[in-house]
Amino acid sequence: MNAVVKLERHGDIGIVTVDSPPVNALSAAVRGGIFDCMKEAIADSSIKAIVLTCGGRTFIAGADITEFGKPPKPPGLQEVLVAMENSPKPIVAAIHGTALGGGLEVALACHYRVAVKEAKLGLPEVKLGLLPGAGGTQRLPRAVGPEMAVKMIVTGDPIGAAEALKSGLIEEIVEGPASGGEAFARKLIAEKRPLRKLRDDDSKLAAAKADISIFTNAVAALTKKARGLEAPFAAADAVRAAIELPFDEGLKKEREGFLKLVTSDQSKAQRYAFFAEREASKIAGVPDGTKPRKVERVAVLGAGTMGGGIAMSFANAGIPVTLIETSDEALKRGMGVMQKNWEATAARGGIPADAPAKRMALIDGKVGIENVKDADLIIEAVFETMAVKKEVFGKLDQFAKPGAVLASNTSYLNIDEIAKETKRPQDVLGMHFFSPANVMKLCEIVRAAKTAPDALTTAVAISRKIAKVPAVVGVCDGFVGNRMLAQRGKQSEKLLFEGALPQQVDAVVTKFGMPMGPFAMSDLAGLDIGWRSRKDRGIKSEIADALCEAGRFGQKTGKGYYKYEGGSRSPLPDPDVEKLIDETLQELGKKRRNVSDDEILERMMYPMINEGARILEEGIAARPSDIDVIWLYGYGWPIYRGGPMYWADSVGLKHIADRLSYYAKETNDPSLEPCALLKKLAAAGSTFASLAAPSKAA
Ligand code: 3HC
Ligand code: NAI
Repeated sequence: MNAVVKLERHGDIGIVTVDSPPVNALSAAVRGGIFDCMKEAIADSSIKAIVLTCGGRTFIAGADITEFGKPPKPPGLQEVLVAMENSPKPIVAAIHGTALGGGLEVALACHYRVAVKEAKLGLPEVKLGLLPGAGGTQRLPRAVGPEMAVKMIVTGDPIGAAEALKSGLIEEIVEGPASGGEAFARKLIAEKRPLRKLRDDDSKLAAAKADISIFTNAVAALTKKARGLEAPFAAADAVRAAIELPFDEGLKKEREGFLKLVTSDQSKAQRYAFFAEREASKIAGVPDGTKPRKVERVAVLGAGTMGGGIAMSFANAGIPVTLIETSDEALKRGMGVMQKNWEATAARGGIPADAPAKRMALIDGKVGIENVKDADLIIEAVFETMAVKKEVFGKLDQFAKPGAVLASNTSYLNIDEIAKETKRPQDVLGMHFFSPANVMKLCEIVRAAKTAPDALTTAVAISRKIAKVPAVVGVCDGFVGNRMLAQRGKQSEKLLFEGALPQQVDAVVTKFGMPMGPFAMSDLAGLDIGWRSRKDRGIKSEIADALCEAGRFGQKTGKGYYKYEGGSRSPLPDPDVEKLIDETLQELGKKRRNVSDDEILERMMYPMINEGARILEEGIAARPSDIDVIWLYGYGWPIYRGGPMYWADSVGLKHIADRLSYYAKETNDPSLEPCALLKKLAAAGSTFASLAAPSKAA
């Protein structure tokens, strides 16, 4: 018994309760407490069965991630689990909230498991670049079969109580965890049920033992998208050991895999990202305890690409939306797209068959801005011109109820200027979602000069409620993400004028781990938009202009920087583009040179990092880790590289500053010179991480 784990006696049932907020993580104190309480309960002859349950919002949510990388403190989790599994009295895990990672492994070492119907159970270690390190890879396949186990372990996605019951992971769904666990324990005693030790039960492994291809085929399908990541493959290997080796040898194999991963650069980066994401929800300069405003209904203006996706995100979370357009026709089109999207997801099995209808029922389509009147939060996603935004916000001021938060989804425009159109600038901010908005997790929350603290906390809280990752940024052109991306765009274009080809540049960027290179991305977005805007501004970009003049607008015309055959979305290098580049350069009197992949990588990444440093200098982002979060969740930065600022620290800021100075001179572009902050950190041999509070990640 200690401050976080206690043993109580309810007649002949011993109830061991873990109460270690916020998520009952398996810190040394929790491990020690469980160990001691179990020992006491086992030794107590008046106790016939034991229930392990948790106080607060959840069952044990895993190992304490802050302990990784630090010297281990006894008792080790394995030691605790062995003692529990070997208990001569039945132990029942009674689960509510989330039994994750080490938490589920504790439950798997119990003889029986019950859960409330809202509970979620999973082994998400892979999301931290790890594999389950306390028997999960050996016991879960014995509980649910290796195919389902490897799916849970390689994706890291939890399952609900109903699926857990169906698969044999839990015995029963109960009303309350402690009371349900106790009732189940009494039943065990009454029925004299034998102890069920998963380690001794190989029955569910038989099919895969006879034919391993059942397992290897499942793994091949699951790891298809795991490009660049180490953990999913190592985790699958550990599960395979459950099929091929005796339990104790499998455990050994799991341990080796875990110890290798826990010290890997990938896992360190992924653990950093875990805490960076949570840190980003803490808004610098807002008084602690600032309560968010109530949001029961949302209005979204514009049912186009973004408005539709934003409305879907709210409906996915069960929040009613009024979706407003300027005409019946536009509204019908927008509603139709949403319905089709949900139906496609349901057809793939991603959501239940009745979900599309249920979600559509949460969306009330209306024509006319006056329909915002009942909404607590209004998100504008209309055309990207200042005149239109100003008109819309002027009207919102007229129709929105007092205290409603007024948000713009603008990609670049100045929120302070937009806020001036209202008499309530304290309620105005940006909520910059990313396309496709129902899929991408990032929401840049733009804090304008007069935005009230509780308007900001409202935007952050509601973003988390709809499963987005919020990051608060200041007002500037393009905010954090697009502002940095513009630097990469500038360099990618310049590289073509020096001799690189689109496919070479894109290959370097995708090999680094980004989902798409800049040219494939331009083809997807459409080249004509930039072309028209350049024409309006009297600006030239000879290669891109020549492509557009040849009718190559990108994917939508089947040709752009690449060709796309038979309506496919896969970019194919096109000799015609190389010819067009050659001809353009000849006309400009420029010679192509051989550009190395190393140079491409440096020129893609370092100018973005320089811009990130400027963003920090200006206070547009409060912490380097916020910038990382923006790139991880808005642009598909590979999680195993932690984010651009984290990655920059690992490369070394002095090297980056030196190379930027070199390219500034070599390409005659003074804007590439390292900014003052980068220079200062580089000269001091310091890091971006030194600017932030120490990270919880080891
Ligand atoms: N260790 C340490 N701290 C943790 C933690 C953990 N496992 N899980 C959550 N926390 C902290 C968070 O950092 C946060 O701290 P803060 O308030 O100071 O920012 C606080 O707990 C609350 O977390 P969330 O904001 O994420 O709360 P939510 O309610 O949104 O989500 C959760 C709860 C679903 C449990 C989520 O926190 C989560 O997914 N946690 C991680 C689960 C996990 O990965 N477990 C596996 C760990 S590895 C492992 O177990 C190895 C084993 O195999 C040996
Ligand atoms: P879109 O052109 O697809 O949709 C805009 C919709 O707004 C149209 O359906 C139009 O009929 C409607 N609309 C115009 N005026 C309106 C009004 N007064 N009231 C109600 N509806 C009105 O444009 P998209 O791409 O959805 O962009 C919307 C906003 O989101 C822009 O500010 C854009 O910069 C921003 N954004 C766009 C991203 C993208 O990738 N498309 C990414 C992030 C932000």
